[in-house]
Amino acid sequence: MSGATLVTGGAGYIGAHMAHALIAAGERVIVVDDLRAGHRGAVPPKATFVAADIGDAAAMGALLREHGVARVLHFAGDIQVGESVHKPRKYYANNLVAGLHLLDACVDAGVGTFVLSSTAAVYGEPIRTPIDEEHPKAPVNPYGATKLALEGALAAYGVAHGLKWAALRYFNAAGAGFGLREAHDPETHLIPLAIDAALGRRPALTVFGEDWPTADGTCIRDYVHVLDLCEAHRLALGHVEGGGASGAFNLGSGDGASVRAVIDAVGAACGKVVPFTVGPRRAGDPAVLVASSAKARAVLGWNPSRGLAAIVADAVASRRS
Ligand code: UFG
Repeated sequence: MSGATLVTGGAGYIGAHMAHALIAAGERVIVVDDLRAGHRGAVPPKATFVAADIGDAAAMGALLREHGVARVLHFAGDIQVGESVHKPRKYYANNLVAGLHLLDACVDAGVGTFVLSSTAAVYGEPIRTPIDEEHPKAPVNPYGATKLALEGALAAYGVAHGLKWAALRYFNAAGAGFGLREAHDPETHLIPLAIDAALGRRPALTVFGEDWPTADGTCIRDYVHVLDLCEAHRLALGHVEGGGASGAFNLGSGDGASVRAVIDAVGAACGKVVPFTVGPRRAGDPAVLVASSAKARAVLGWNPSRGLAAIVADAVASRRS
């Protein structure tokens, strides 16, 4: 690709994988991360690393010009649904206001393309499944609301300023590659928690409810490998930079897996039983969240190839090492 690619949040879980994927493809990569949640060691050595606040439009504008940035992949942001309910200010400030400042800096500096890490949380409680992009958007928490608002800004800036954009709505990102691993603090995600419980590094997993209206009574989610997400970003860039229509794309495998199925897969991959207890339902959890990624498959040519067993195997390998 011509010009440099800026990866915000490139020291975080998905952003670092993307930075590695771009470096592996021979691209020039600038990583911006304030290291509040990211890990400096996750940034590829060949990327230029800048510790900065993406909401500082003046600093970002200077950086975009200095490095000849042609496109921005915006991964930086706060990601905890539950926390967003209790601390909405943090999410409006960091995900929406800072995101708008970054967007303004991009437009002012002549950056042509912007890809946003969005989320299944923009849909809220599903009224049909699998969820396609036309499903009503009714987020039930500030996390989803702020991502949806930034998506709206992208569409408006696209019309007004000719910005090419894609909003990639991830379902449950998981797995690992490039010698990296999923590491959040605090860790709240099912797969790393189940692995650590199996390996005896944490107490027993708590399953959040066994009385859901699903076959085994546990919640169903659509787990998608982080390397398949990276591939979708590459394809989305090719699509919009090649003149394709900007827009939002769901990224999920289309296969739902229950919490019990994940526990079984983790147990099989670890060769150990995952110790767990059953607790109450977690507030805000929908029973079933499964993507239709038909649009990404048809328009981008995306073909996520790694199923739950591969996701879990890679996650286990990354946590063992
Ligand atoms: N779960 C448990 N026990 C745990 C942790 C999770 O039973 O200790 C269950 C949850 O109830 C849920 C499933 O495992 O049914 C997956 O939970 P995660 O916390 O791993 O992921 P979520 O589905 O809650 O969240 C994901 C993304 C968010 C995104 C959200 C959209 O991580 O970024 O989907 O609703 F916003």
